[in-house]
Amino acid sequence: MDSVDDFEIDKRVVDKLERSINRYIKEQRMLRKDSDLDETLEEVFDRTTIMTLYKLMNKGVIDEFHGVVSSGKEARVYAATAPDGTELAVKIYLIKTAEFRKGRIKYIVGDPRFEGIPPTTRGIVYAWASKEYKNLELASRAGVYVPQPIIQEKNVLIMKFIGKEFVPAPTLKELSYVSDYMFYQVIRQVRLLYSKANLVHADLSEYNIFYYKRKPILFDIGQGVLTTHPSADVYLVRDISNILNFFRVRGVSVPTLDDVIEYIKG
Ligand SMILES: Nc1ncnc2c1ncn2[C@@H]1O[C@H](COP(=O)(O)OP(=O)(O)O)[C@@H](O)[C@H]1O
Ligand SMILES: [Mg+2]
Repeated sequence: MDSVDDFEIDKRVVDKLERSINRYIKEQRMLRKDSDLDETLEEVFDRTTIMTLYKLMNKGVIDEFHGVVSSGKEARVYAATAPDGTELAVKIYLIKTAEFRKGRIKYIVGDPRFEGIPPTTRGIVYAWASKEYKNLELASRAGVYVPQPIIQEKNVLIMKFIGKEFVPAPTLKELSYVSDYMFYQVIRQVRLLYSKANLVHADLSEYNIFYYKRKPILFDIGQGVLTTHPSADVYLVRDISNILNFFRVRGVSVPTLDDVIEYIKG
């Protein structure tokens, strides 16, 4: 059962949340056929998610939402602001995405931090959001460039917004030019992630690295596993191969996979 803690309902917060959701509905109406709308709405704003967002607004974490910046298969990302004006990224994992269960369990099993997760879709989605949050925390504490995590509650993860005026920074994929230097910057972050945070990203590619203020910022780190995970090495090789391929295709002369792996682990 969804538990609703005892609290007084703050009408102003409810109004604000309602305005945010209504804005979302309006936006979506322009984007798609009416017949899809109810389904889409329910997919993101199910009852528990609404309660969670309400609580986060009530607690003063979120002041206002500013629209969707990304609608992935598994999560929606919203730009929002904190009461002090800080720009936030609010990542809402969709409960109704059953695919989650099939593809993602292997990243959770084998991770001692996630023992005893109830094997329901909801349980797995919450575990996933919590995993991304914890990975961001580990990485952030180790000094790796990642969006600073702020809070995670159920399927909602809040972090600092990378970019400005609610426009996300470009990812490596979106850059028109990349250099050798950028390649080494990225590899250094992966090395730091490995050696100081004891993590392997496990979904690293040009799509999950922002380039902002001349720094690569790794994100979308929910799949990240501890270096002790039985498949950590396989994931590391896959991550590095993606990065090598990306830079190679863009004309950067890159070292061999073995050399890079040795540098990261060395
Ligand atoms: N911290 C953030 N700041 C700004 N934009 C973000 C942030 N996190 C995610 N986004 C935006 O949302 C998109 C998808 O985020 P991501 O975490 O990769 O989700 P998915 O799991 O759907 O791939 C990013 O490409 C970016 O445009
Ligand atoms: Mg992504």
